[in-house]
Amino acid sequence: MTLPPAAEGLGSELRAATAAMHRRVERTPYMAGLLRGQLDRRQYVQLLQQLQVLYAALEEALQQHAATPGVAPVVLPELFRHQALTEDLRALGSEALAPARQTHALQAYVARLKELAATKPALLVAHAYVRYLGDLNGGQALRQVVRRALALQGGMGTQFYDFGEAAARRQLEQRFRDGLEQIGPQWKDRTPLLEEAVSAFTRHEQLFAELASA
Ligand code: HEM
Repeated sequence: MTLPPAAEGLGSELRAATAAMHRRVERTPYMAGLLRGQLDRRQYVQLLQQLQVLYAALEEALQQHAATPGVAPVVLPELFRHQALTEDLRALGSEALAPARQTHALQAYVARLKELAATKPALLVAHAYVRYLGDLNGGQALRQVVRRALALQGGMGTQFYDFGEAAARRQLEQRFRDGLEQIGPQWKDRTPLLEEAVSAFTRHEQLFAELASA
């Protein structure tokens, strides 16, 4: 008996294409340090400041394309992180709200997101995949570590990682993955999308390298 070919959805393709880069980024001294609870409050605030700028650009672009076929299925406002980041920064102290010094990697990242919003919105899907599925997965382990390491009470300063109860988080992840599968058939050659996702990881690697030496 011949088995049907394994279902190869866009989600699994993105995962396979970026797996090696995920391992690399996870092992950068900066991420490894964060995972071991070795970041102090100043460094954590610095990270959130960079992410706040990144999410402002990403979510503005996604909102702009909330009705664009090929993007709309992964625009889930419940996932948006910009507001949570702003609240975390406020909770961590007023000095934290001072304008962030933007790393070169971040500036280039934001420029790329703006370029995609203006010219190739379908590639924004790669960035939504890298950020939101990362936050919904590894972000959950990081949340516990950060709370312990910085002795943060309750959700103070870590709302960024909070997507509600585990069941709600799983449901959100499923909705995002379903969105990817709706988009998949619209791509005949998925190479540009997969390459964009790999480059999003490279941009994170560069961002973490700059933050490590800040
Ligand atoms: C120390 C840092 C990190 C840890 C411990 C971590 C851990 C994880 C874990 C456990 C998963 C679930 C894997 C699975 O389902 O088998 C995951 C998925 C994911 N992570 Fe990370 N991660 C880290 C950093 C990052 C970063 C910085 C990014 C993005 C720049 C990222 C993006 C992703 C993505 C996109 C997925 C979904 C993969 C998929 O199922 O398609 N992760 N991560």
